[in-house]
Amino acid sequence: MKFFIDTANLNDIREAQGLGILDGVTTNPSLMAKEGITGTDNILKHYVDICNIVEGDVSAEVNATDYEGMVREGEQLADLHPQIVVKLPMTKDGVRACKYFSDKGIKTNVTLVFSAGQAILAAKAGATYVSPFVGRLDDISTDGLNLIQEIREIYDNYGYETEILAASVRHTMHIVNCAKIGADVMTGPLSAILGLLKHPLTDIGLAQFIADYQKGNQ
Ligand code: E4P
Repeated sequence: MKFFIDTANLNDIREAQGLGILDGVTTNPSLMAKEGITGTDNILKHYVDICNIVEGDVSAEVNATDYEGMVREGEQLADLHPQIVVKLPMTKDGVRACKYFSDKGIKTNVTLVFSAGQAILAAKAGATYVSPFVGRLDDISTDGLNLIQEIREIYDNYGYETEILAASVRHTMHIVNCAKIGADVMTGPLSAILGLLKHPLTDIGLAQFIADYQKGNQ
């Protein structure tokens, strides 16, 4: 399973990249705003800064909601850097724009997906990635991981090449369960990724190894 980090924070991206396990980055307008990145020029420059830190795909989301606007904005984003993936919302115009970009060989990520039906449409439109939001479904007492499982089954039935990018991943067990189900990618915050490192027996074992080494090498 590929690991993407879901942030626009350059320090977090550098830290995850430094671990050597990062495969890409996802962002959205809210994550950009959280970092205080506003205004088109600054936003576009920030995407290039992110691409210069990581080696993999970087999802950059359009803000337009109409087809023509999405196409215009998506082309501008795709021209920024070869690593850019155009992120489009799961709407009628978003699906049309996805088909437009897939026909042109430009990578796409269809976002704000909350049902298997929406995921089928994204695959039919040739999306590179589909982003079902696990955490936001959990937030409304619906099993987000169940949606990942449903999409996995449907995509496998037909050999759809669209990669399932489990989004809105919030914690370590989301990551582990996405891997068990067979998500192609997960995107989550640095805290969830670093959380995978933790086990008390690792800490206890390491402390013991250090103490024993020191006893024998004084
Ligand atoms: C997806 O690409 C989104 O950026 C993201 O995963 C949303 O996560 P949230 O529900 O934690 O805001």
